[in-house]
Amino acid sequence: MSAEQQAGQGTGLTVIVLAAGGGTRMKSKTMKVLHPIAGRTMIGHVLTAAQALDPRRVVAVVGHQREAVSAHISASFPDVVLAVQEEQLGTGHAVRMAVEAAGASAGTVLVAYGDTPLLSGESLRAFAAEHEAAERAVSILSGIVDDPFGYGRVLRNAEGDVEAIVEEKDASAEQREVREINSGILAFDAGFLTTALPRIGNDNAKGEYYLTDTIAIAREDGLTVGAYPVDDVMQTEGVNDRVQLARMGAELNRRIVERWMREGVTVMDPATTWIDADVVLAGDVTILPGTQLLGATVVGEDAVVGPDTTLKDCEIGPRARVVRTHGELAVIGAEANVGPFSYLRPGTTLGTGGKIGGFVETKNAVIGDGAKVPHLSYVGDAEIGEGTNIGAGTIFANYDGVNKHRTKVGRHARTSSNNTFVAPVEIGDGAATGAGTVVRQDVPPGALAVSAGPQRNIEKWALHKRAGTAQARAAEDALGARRDDDGGVAES
Ligand code: UD1
Ligand code: CA
Repeated sequence: MSAEQQAGQGTGLTVIVLAAGGGTRMKSKTMKVLHPIAGRTMIGHVLTAAQALDPRRVVAVVGHQREAVSAHISASFPDVVLAVQEEQLGTGHAVRMAVEAAGASAGTVLVAYGDTPLLSGESLRAFAAEHEAAERAVSILSGIVDDPFGYGRVLRNAEGDVEAIVEEKDASAEQREVREINSGILAFDAGFLTTALPRIGNDNAKGEYYLTDTIAIAREDGLTVGAYPVDDVMQTEGVNDRVQLARMGAELNRRIVERWMREGVTVMDPATTWIDADVVLAGDVTILPGTQLLGATVVGEDAVVGPDTTLKDCEIGPRARVVRTHGELAVIGAEANVGPFSYLRPGTTLGTGGKIGGFVETKNAVIGDGAKVPHLSYVGDAEIGEGTNIGAGTIFANYDGVNKHRTKVGRHARTSSNNTFVAPVEIGDGAATGAGTVVRQDVPPGALAVSAGPQRNIEKWALHKRAGTAQARAAEDALGARRDDDGGVAES
């Protein structure tokens, strides 16, 4: 623990995120909270919401598959303190493990779960503020739902004061009728929580230490307890199986897409547009149907992306146009044109006003301002200077079967169709190549490289070698027509 953490120990806001449970209904090798939604893990969403409150500390309680969960948290949220719960003895026990690991004995403690991907920092902040303003021992973020089955019910007395939470399995038939449920998000006065945790028993239907028993304990001690129904119940909804995973994923996407539209992005078809949580879009971006913007993709002002385009961790410049493209870790300059049917692999950089056209695959390729690779090409491990045009059907042969090599093409070069550049090779500034050239040696600046031999025509070959075929007849017809025109047989 750092000196700073030590100094602040016991004060401020602590957020505890519970993620020790197994999540067996996912039927997955992957731990439930590690399943992604909108480009982040479920627990990643919750920890991001927690960090938005700028808390003194965030503690994650891990148990099931704790190596994988801990590794993910340490990598993505290095400030989060990890607490281990060896056996899942209940939410009360889990919080006890967290408090013991972090030593939160004063201030406010917020408890949330790691499987509620829609939870927002604003909702958490508002709840914490309400709790602190009311100076309560415990506050419950509750929800009024149509089907409360499975949830802990919030029990109120005749005056409407909260008395306790009773779990589904322990509830009487009458208590089960209550539609105000415990979302699972609770706020505590840390001093009260520290004294209450050891007093929680496990004499209940599940034989677990219920964190929710702290409500009745507070009431016994004559302390104040309150429940705040949340408007947006989905924010506190957990994901237990893959049907819910898809449903929550679609809902989160709907919210993200709607937010961007309100920020000034045109989305032609929200239903077929997927935008990850960490994507950033500028004003007047247009997204056409069937487009997925994933990971840390950034799109500049007035750019048009789609239709049917997937971009992961890409940077698209202002006013660029990207049509029917699959891209990953690529940087596309302002006003550049990409697609249709382009495949941008990691390390692709296209300059301002450049072009990567139809059926072009690029990888580790730096293509300069105004440079163009318009048609049917593979550009791997290459550098192409500004203003250069690469002819249709050019292959940058970067792989000799053992090693990868680089090709460099200079500025304002004009290479012709159906070329092969056998790397390592360099084509100078202002150089040119003939059609079908296989470039094996460097081409000096301004030179024209040709490698194909002179063309030789073997006259009437089809008439002799393909006699009786449609090919031969077509040739005969054409030669006959020429004879009529010229009044003689064409010379051979
Ligand atoms: C819990 C609440 C219930 C609430 C519901 C909301 C209790 C006793 N009950 O019930 O009032 O309505 O959530 O969804 O708190 N966990 C651990 N360690 C454990 C047990 C659980 O880390 O030993 C974690 C789980 O991974 C999960 C969360 O705590 O993220 C909730 O546990 P779960 O067993 O699903 O509680 P519920 O029965 O749903
Ligand atoms: Ca649950």
